[in-house]
Amino acid sequence: MSGGVPDKCNVLLAGSGGREHALAWKLRQSPRLGKLWVDPAANAGLRQFGTPCPQGFEPRNRFHLERFLEKENVQLVVVGPEALLEQSFADDLSKPPQRLVFGPTRAAARLEWDKAWCKQLLRSANVPTAESRTFNAQQIEAALHYVRSRPDPVVVKASGLCAGKGVVVCDDAKQAEAAVQSMLLNKQHGDASAQVVIEERLHGQEVSVLALVDGSNIWMLDACQDHKQVGEGDTGPNTGGMGAYCPTPLATPEVMQFVEREVMVPTVDALRREGIDYRGVLFAGLMLTHSGPKVLEFNCRFGDPETQALMMRWQGDLLDALWRTAEGTLDGADIGFARGASCCVVVCAQGYPGTPRSGDSIEALPESITPNDTQGLQCFHGGTKPSAQAGGQPLTAGGRVIGVTALAADVQQACASATRHAAGVRFQGAFFRRDIGHRIR
Ligand code: AMP
Ligand code: GLY
Repeated sequence: MSGGVPDKCNVLLAGSGGREHALAWKLRQSPRLGKLWVDPAANAGLRQFGTPCPQGFEPRNRFHLERFLEKENVQLVVVGPEALLEQSFADDLSKPPQRLVFGPTRAAARLEWDKAWCKQLLRSANVPTAESRTFNAQQIEAALHYVRSRPDPVVVKASGLCAGKGVVVCDDAKQAEAAVQSMLLNKQHGDASAQVVIEERLHGQEVSVLALVDGSNIWMLDACQDHKQVGEGDTGPNTGGMGAYCPTPLATPEVMQFVEREVMVPTVDALRREGIDYRGVLFAGLMLTHSGPKVLEFNCRFGDPETQALMMRWQGDLLDALWRTAEGTLDGADIGFARGASCCVVVCAQGYPGTPRSGDSIEALPESITPNDTQGLQCFHGGTKPSAQAGGQPLTAGGRVIGVTALAADVQQACASATRHAAGVRFQGAFFRRDIGHRIR
């Protein structure tokens, strides 16, 4: 298959966090990258790799943004966050063949922004997933009756996007009833919890399997394991992710084959039957249960911090791979992963996952970042912003501040290196988990 990225391709990378910093770092290594525009809200690290776009990304500004991309001859738009996908960012900015978008349309991204719809699609395609039922605000009594009548604990999920805060993993029926009431009755997440999915609570190890999908071809990426809970030993509330390593030995070749054949292929086929052409990353959050892998959720974007770990090992031209995904020519891509393993440990701000402290000066990083530094350690910025004074230290501006990411010969060494260097990130109230990778030790 021919195709592939043109020489000196100008790119807009949407999204302002750690995932995008890692993508920008890798895109910068492509000899075909022309000008890189980054998010107007880009963190301090991302700003070292590209120029902040002067046009905002909000839906009402799309006309001006489109005009800007036209004027600057931007040929590829890469979309990081799910919220933009729900807001039709890909639909609005795609203009083939002059401009392609890496990231699914709103209709395709429904897999992530409408969990109730996703569960229906999975069921129709026979994709293994937790048993579930969906309820709306008129069905509160039925929902409460359902949780009381279940013999085992359940998980209550707001159907819409909640920035990772819409899932309550319950230990008993009381907790589940409270979750149902606060979502359906008290509208805890507004419209996003107008519907809830109540599903059986699964047990096992969790893995993140991401694949590039170009409409029909599927390219499986090495699997990662994230650590969702804030505390060591997997304790405390859920976060966006405290650290990830790649590859995970839990995803054996048999597991990966199963996921490709029984999860990715039937899901992409089911979307096609709905008339949906999916182009972008398809990210399956899976539980490895004793009756096989089951889908917990789909994301329609790269994961954070999975992407930091993935980019650390990525070999081949990322720009070409993203272009081909958007173009529909993935079968001509050249994608590989470095031997060994990578690990990202996220250094967070005090208070996270509640309201974090912000505005603290980041006094030290274990190693400075330069665009061409391809050594075994990278500090990807997440919630940071530049200092108000020229040449000053960056400031904290979010919960997950810096993703210290290491590459080493194996998972143990990568995690040990990332953990050791995370201690070198210094700002008021900094904390991180010292046990990333513990589940396979
Ligand atoms: P989600 O946003 O659906 O990935 O859910 C966030 C986290 O909740 C997951 O990473 C799991 O740790 C947990 N979770 C979600 N669904 C289930 C389930 N059916 N059984 C057990 N844990 C779950
Ligand atoms: N780390 C999980 C996510 O990106 O949703």
